[in-house]
Amino acid sequence: MSMTLADGLAPAAPTAGKRPVLPGLADPRTLKGAAARKARKERVFGNIPQIAFEQPIYLLRALGGSALIVSDPAGVKRVLIDNVANYPKTEMEQRIFRALFGNGLLGTDGELWRRHRRIMAPAFDPRSVAGYGPAISRACDGFYGHWDQLPPGGEVDIGAEMSRLTLRIIAGTMFSADSDDVIGLVAESMKDGIGIGPFSILDVLPVIGRMRMDRRVQQMAERFRPLDAAINRMIDARQKDPQGSAADLLGRLVGAHDEGGDAALTSREIRDQVITIFIAGHETTAQAMTWTWYLLSQHPAEEARLHEELDRVLGGRTPTQEDLPNLAFTRRVVEESMRIYPTAPGISARVAVADDEICGVKVRKGQAIAIAPWLLHHHKTLWDDPARFDPDRFLPERSAGRPRLAYMPFGAGPRVCIGQVLAMNEATLILAGLAQRYRLSLSPGQDIVPLANVTLRPKYGMRMMVERRV
Ligand code: HEM
Repeated sequence: MSMTLADGLAPAAPTAGKRPVLPGLADPRTLKGAAARKARKERVFGNIPQIAFEQPIYLLRALGGSALIVSDPAGVKRVLIDNVANYPKTEMEQRIFRALFGNGLLGTDGELWRRHRRIMAPAFDPRSVAGYGPAISRACDGFYGHWDQLPPGGEVDIGAEMSRLTLRIIAGTMFSADSDDVIGLVAESMKDGIGIGPFSILDVLPVIGRMRMDRRVQQMAERFRPLDAAINRMIDARQKDPQGSAADLLGRLVGAHDEGGDAALTSREIRDQVITIFIAGHETTAQAMTWTWYLLSQHPAEEARLHEELDRVLGGRTPTQEDLPNLAFTRRVVEESMRIYPTAPGISARVAVADDEICGVKVRKGQAIAIAPWLLHHHKTLWDDPARFDPDRFLPERSAGRPRLAYMPFGAGPRVCIGQVLAMNEATLILAGLAQRYRLSLSPGQDIVPLANVTLRPKYGMRMMVERRV
């Protein structure tokens, strides 16, 4: 057996003839009849023509405006990194996030955003994240009880189960809180995703987009009212007992002071950051896990390799932070799952504030720019056989020539996901702990269709059957 790969595992033999067609990934142009209709129905951004997966830059025109879709890594770099000051998030995007999260990181720009991000960043650096390992392991241990009681082959709504777990992890790691009232209210507010209806590329177009956003803003404010009250109680308790503050994100937000010794953040600003982290920090990871279980259920050879690694490295123990360097294949499964089904399929639209040029294309002031991990991750010029689930494409030797920004599940540049290190560690530990103990298979008779509703979710949900492995 060849042992040349980074983690000592031999590559899987291709599952000849058995390769599943993954929902949302088939190219309708290559199909006929019912298969073509199905592929068309499943398309994630139905308004974007298939040709955009082959061209570096594509101008999408529609009634009321246009959006320049940038899928060339050099162009993405221009927008998100090199000339980032020229491409703020659009006012519409800011409004929708402000309606949900007030002045939380997702909805602000400029000096206010910079000041808050600086205060929060240390809670997300690799050292702090390593310190959250025990809280993640505890939450996973607490989770097993429920699945252990299922009858063999018992069925679960996997998205809801993963949300329950990741919500508890966020509450435990960021706020040292596992108070059921806050967790219950976050879960209730997020029941159907962020609940603002399917996100479409129409949302980035100036006129239509504004009308669509206006309708949503009012609905969201109503929906979050009860959760607001519970979060305010949590902040009050910390402010009254600053000595007891844990070294977690809430402790940092409450304890931050400016040079004059005054609190750096108002209670309202702290509330906005707490709600941002609660929501941005659990639903995305839960959906990433959901798609990971789905992909494993469709790829038995890769699932077997995962089980082999887990049995060898963990031997039945709960995985901890220290195991991560030895769980290389487990991590690659997560990486590849987030390539195939990126849970943030499109990042916030940007707008050019001055004329510019992106990869030789003139960009006029006011032009809306769309960057979509969904397009980049399936782009024909960037990936070999993009519709194939192949965790080994993330082996160092196979990643070598690939532009860094061909893969960006967490965005890029100064607005990159603040929680990316946490999310990767968390997802790897969840997968290791659960896949060691259970095997999940897709319940029969379901139509699995990816839907972009801010995050990428299975449109009709996903039911899976759970078997104990050990
Ligand atoms: C698999 C899990 C996750 C994915 C796929 C994801 C994806 C993203 C993406 C793509 C962005 C950038 C959006 C843009 O540029 O428009 C972002 C931003 C953000 N994410 Fe995540 N995220 C994940 C987990 C988390 C976690 C665990 C947290 C916190 C605990 C978090 C908090 C945030 C925040 C606060 C921002 C805004 C950052 C800023 O604008 O400064 N995310 N995320």
